Amino acid sequence: MAEKKFKAMVVREEKDGRFSRKVEERTISSLPPGDVLVKVRYSSLNYKDVLSAIGNRGVTKDYPHTPGIDAAGVVEESSDPGFKPGDAVIVTSYDLGMNTSGGYGQYIRVPAGWVVKLPRNLTLRESMIYGTAGFTAALSVHRLVEHGIKPDQGTILVSGATGGVGSIAVSILVKAGYQVAAVNGIVDETAYLRTLGAREVISIEEATDTSGRPLLKARWAGAVDTVGGIMLSTTIRSLQYGGAVTCCGNVGSHDLPLNVYPFIIRGAVLVGIDSQNCPMPMRQTVWDRIAGEWKLGHLDQITTETSLEGLGEKIDMVLEKKHRGRTIVSLPE
Ligand SMILES: NC(=O)c1ccc[n+]([C@@H]2O[C@H](COP(=O)([O-])OP(=O)(O)OC[C@H]3O[C@@H](n4cnc5c(N)ncnc54)[C@H](OP(=O)(O)O)[C@@H]3O)[C@@H](O)[C@H]2O)c1
Repeated sequence: MAEKKFKAMVVREEKDGRFSRKVEERTISSLPPGDVLVKVRYSSLNYKDVLSAIGNRGVTKDYPHTPGIDAAGVVEESSDPGFKPGDAVIVTSYDLGMNTSGGYGQYIRVPAGWVVKLPRNLTLRESMIYGTAGFTAALSVHRLVEHGIKPDQGTILVSGATGGVGSIAVSILVKAGYQVAAVNGIVDETAYLRTLGAREVISIEEATDTSGRPLLKARWAGAVDTVGGIMLSTTIRSLQYGGAVTCCGNVGSHDLPLNVYPFIIRGAVLVGIDSQNCPMPMRQTVWDRIAGEWKLGHLDQITTETSLEGLGEKIDMVLEKKHRGRTIVSLPE
C-alpha cells in the first residue's frame, strides 16, 4: 500500500547558495523518530521561523527542512501512555522547527516531553494565536509578577510593541491591570497600539539614549524588552528603584552597552527569558494563565490567518518589517 503523504513547506539550499521555499508532498516516514505523531491543524509565524526559512544556520543546520517552531493539533499515534489518539495538544519550542521537522507541515513527530495538553479554555486556533510569541510574552509578564512588580507601581514599557511578542505583552499587561507604554517606530502603528490598550506610544528615538549616562530619569516600574542593544540599555538606566525588565529578543542588537550602576544604585533587575527550554511545570503554569486569568478577548484583532501557500509572502513581510501582530497558519484538514 502506498505510504500516506502530507503537505509541508520545504526550504532547500539551491546550487547557487540561495534558499528556496516550496509547498511539497512528504511522507510520514521522512519525519524524525519520536513518541507522539501529531496531525497539525494550526501553526504560527515567529521571528525564528523566518530565520529558519531564509537559511540561518544558527537556527537550522541542515536543509532541506520544514520550519515551524509552533504546532497545535490532534494526536494520531503515541507510544507514550500520557497521550492517546484524539488528544488535542500544543507543541512549541524545544527543537521543533529548528532541526526537527516543524509545524509548517500537516504532521510532526516529537518526544512526549515536548507535548502540552491543550488547556480546557483554549481552542487549537487560539493556542497558535499565542504560539511561542504569546507564550514568551506571558512568560515575561509572569516573571515580572514573580519579581513583585505590581500595577500600582507605575508604567510598564514594552519594546517592539507591534511585533508578535510585543502585541501580546501589551495586551496581557493591560488585562492584568498594568498601565503600558509601547515603543513603536518602524511603521507608525499608534492607532493599533491604542486599540490594544497602550496608554502611551513613544518613538524609538525617545526610547533610545546615546548620551552614555549611567543613570537616566527613573521612569518605568518594569519593562518587557524584545529589541536588545541600546534600547534595552536605555530602559535599564530608566527603571525606577527596584524595577525589573525582561529580556527575550535581539531584533535591534545582541549587544548590551551598560555599566553596573543601575543594579548597584537603583537595585534594577534584569530577567532573562527563554521560552525554548522553559521547564515543563512553569510552561504548564504559564499556559494555564494564558487560558485563564489572562485570556484575551480581542485575539482576532491581532491575528492574520494564512495557508501554507500564502506563508511565503508573510515571511517576506517580516523581512521587510511590514508585519504586525500574529500570523497563524491553517493546515489542510
Ligand atoms: N527568548 C525567547 O524565548 C524568545 C521567544 C520568542 C521570540 N523571541 C525574540 O523576541 C524578538 C521579537 O520576536 P517577535 O516574534 O515579536 O518579532 P516580530 O513580530 O518580528 O516583531 C519585532 C518588532 O520589533 C520592532 N523592531 C524591529 N526591528 C527593530 C529595530 N531595529 N529597532 C527597534 N525595534 C525594532 C518592530 O516593532 P515596532 O515597529 O513597533 O517598533 C517589530 O514589530 C525576536 O528577537 C525573537 O527572536 C525570543
